[in-house]
Amino acid sequence: MLMTEIEVKVPESPSDSYKVRIGSGMLGQILSKVEDDFGSRGLFVLTDSNVANAGHLEKLLAGKSVPHFIIDPAGEVSKNISTVIAIIESMEKAFLGRDTVVVALGGGTVGDIGAFAASIFKRGVPVVQIPTTTVSQADSSIGGKSGVDSSLSKNAFGTFWHPSAVYVDVETLKTLDDRQYRAGLVESVKHALIADSEYFEFFESNIDAILSRDMEVLSKIAKKNCAIKASVVEQDPTEKNMRRMLNYGHTIGHAVESASGFDLLHGEAVAVGIIGAAIIENKMMLSDGERIGRIRSLLEKLSVPVKIPAGLDRAKLLEAIRRDKKAVQGWPNFVLLSDIGKVYCTEGQYAVKVQQQVVEQTLDELAT
Ligand SMILES: NC(=O)c1ccc[n+]([C@@H]2O[C@H](COP(=O)([O-])OP(=O)(O)OC[C@H]3O[C@@H](n4cnc5c(N)ncnc54)[C@H](O)[C@@H]3O)[C@@H](O)[C@H]2O)c1
Ligand SMILES: [Zn+2]
Repeated sequence: MLMTEIEVKVPESPSDSYKVRIGSGMLGQILSKVEDDFGSRGLFVLTDSNVANAGHLEKLLAGKSVPHFIIDPAGEVSKNISTVIAIIESMEKAFLGRDTVVVALGGGTVGDIGAFAASIFKRGVPVVQIPTTTVSQADSSIGGKSGVDSSLSKNAFGTFWHPSAVYVDVETLKTLDDRQYRAGLVESVKHALIADSEYFEFFESNIDAILSRDMEVLSKIAKKNCAIKASVVEQDPTEKNMRRMLNYGHTIGHAVESASGFDLLHGEAVAVGIIGAAIIENKMMLSDGERIGRIRSLLEKLSVPVKIPAGLDRAKLLEAIRRDKKAVQGWPNFVLLSDIGKVYCTEGQYAVKVQQQVVEQTLDELAT
């Protein structure tokens, strides 16, 4: 099995670490590898109906008879506690116990549900992540955040539960819907912007290959993403300071996402938020003025929005910004860049104060 390995240290217990293995077309060999790694433990595979219908479950099982659960309907609607109960009861019915390994095959929803179920089943069993979307390969499969939504808010139930291993098979991306594919790549652009200017240039010069889902280029992207996210998470596992840089573009992004009534996909809203941050950087003299053009041009090539959609209620947007979960006294701090590949850090802080007036002007510019 041809794979690149990246080790991620689990900071709460520095002796602990897990491997992210990246390759193309190795799905059918992963379960044997997991069996080798975990000895006699029983496996339980979790996926969703779209991933199963795309043929990935069959490929993963490779003829093995392994108990599995298919989340149906797929997507955020099923990311709730009732699904977790159904999964756990299905594990019990299969006579699985403390020696189980949960294998989560799918996007961020399957990964978040799988990690949460694993973290509470019999007081906690290991989870192996096999992410199949651009979002989950770049973001959610690494970092150890699990969770499901309540009827009132996202990830209301959640734990920190690091995976025991992550397998990224970029070939699974071939069947992903085009809009999901492009929106998910925005998180990769974000990684490049906060940490690696060469990676940003790689994006600029390989955009056609990226859009045509060239496996070699996608493997390179997967490796870069894992290395960047792992390094940030290792240095600040519980988001006290540095990990906040992963929130670049997300303050305005989350507000646009919720004010759109979730019509925009997360990555699409983050694209608008990234341009918002770049406008703020211009206003705060943190940019040479050219940067925003480069970022906008790359995002436009990904065909994601770079403006607030027409008709979005401005008051709702401001309200959502005030309600940002990282807000202090009703106003959030912003992650900004001092350069492509470099987050602006002042007095040791990676998220800085921006006056409300500057944000309001930015929203106006983003809407025209
Ligand atoms: N834990 C974290 O740190 C973290 C980080 C970012 C996002 N998230 C969570 O991730 C979720 C979003 O993840 P997502 O964008 O991957 O969404 P998703 O898992 O809902 O996948 C998007 C859609 O694509 C389908 N799909 C997945 N892989 C496919 C494939 N290879 N071929 C065809 N169809 C496929 C899914 O069934 C779904 O309909 C959200 O719930 C979000 O909160 C978590
Ligand atoms: Zn995000």
